[in-house]
Amino acid sequence: MTTPLLEVRDLTRHFAVRKGLFGRTTGHVRAVDGVSFTIHRGETLGLVGESGCGKSTTGKTLLKLLEPDGGSILFDGSDITGFDRKRMAPVRRDLQVIFQDPYSSINPRATAGGYVGEPLRIHGLARGREALARVAELFQHVGLRPEHMRRYPHEFSGGQRQRLAVARALSLNPRLIVADEAVSALDVSIQASVINLLKDLQQEFGLAYLFIAHDIGVVEHISHRVAVMYLGKLVELADRKTLFTSPQHPYTQALLSAVPIPNPRLRRGQRLLLKGDVPSPINPPSGCRFHTRCPFAEDRCRVEEPKLRELSPGQLAACHLR
Ligand SMILES: Nc1ncnc2c1ncn2[C@@H]1O[C@H](COP(=O)(O)OP(=O)(O)O)[C@@H](O)[C@H]1O
Ligand code: SF4
Ligand SMILES: [Mg+2]
Repeated sequence: MTTPLLEVRDLTRHFAVRKGLFGRTTGHVRAVDGVSFTIHRGETLGLVGESGCGKSTTGKTLLKLLEPDGGSILFDGSDITGFDRKRMAPVRRDLQVIFQDPYSSINPRATAGGYVGEPLRIHGLARGREALARVAELFQHVGLRPEHMRRYPHEFSGGQRQRLAVARALSLNPRLIVADEAVSALDVSIQASVINLLKDLQQEFGLAYLFIAHDIGVVEHISHRVAVMYLGKLVELADRKTLFTSPQHPYTQALLSAVPIPNPRLRRGQRLLLKGDVPSPINPPSGCRFHTRCPFAEDRCRVEEPKLRELSPGQLAACHLR
């Protein structure tokens, strides 16, 4: 086996909860609580789970936009967990991120060309004519016309603005892009076109993605493997086909409940609907964190935490009943 491009082991990130603005710490949000996975070169790992489960914190922590509290991050074989800003600088180019509609949240008078080319300027990689040529090339890579470089955010559609965000992320020739709800705000048909663009760029440049979405349906067509997250922990991890046809964790089954579940424990076509909201990650439920919403919960589930175990080659799940 070759070394994975990215490996996170037991990644942890908590946030202090304070009383008042400068008050004492009254608790901790256990946003990411011991998460491990790998991403290989050219691979897409989908990361799904309801809002508040810790997906964005996972993405930001592995990019070191947030400092981890525990665990380790290995990028291309080197342990970057303790890297300071200076040592991160060269690694930054390899790791990029795309959020939901970032271009419209910046200065409304920033031209599209300026936005896409900004990382080149920040890293001192290209100036003047050379930068212009590179930006024009990036516009073409994402299916936009270079003449639109002088336009402003409001002159583009939502899908086009996400293409610009993709172009900007590509500008430094990264190896891994974290796409955090990058298509979530778009209409279904536009989502599909941006996902196809990401897949084409992956083929062309050998990119790896961590593709984050709260909607499990959105990750299906781009992911090679999918990780399912619930209250700071991974509950299931499997290759795409296995996860969608034979989900083992009740939470995964619930997320997939819009489609009939081919699972022997459930009657064919029976739906497992998720009731209630995600409990607070400040005091997560004891034992299995899903027990308050799980229709199969037993006494053991309330006291003993299930470990993420390999059930069949490549399929891991954390449930006492599996
Ligand atoms: N900067 C922060 N300070 C305090 N709590 C935070 C912060 N960022 C996220 N959280 C909390 O951590 C939990 C996980 O959030 P997040 O990673 O954004 O989840 P997701 O992306 O899955 O919706 C939530 O309870 C959220 O309120
Ligand atoms: S361990 Fe128990 S509560 Fe948790 S998912 Fe499995 S059956 Fe449900
Ligand atoms: Mg998020």
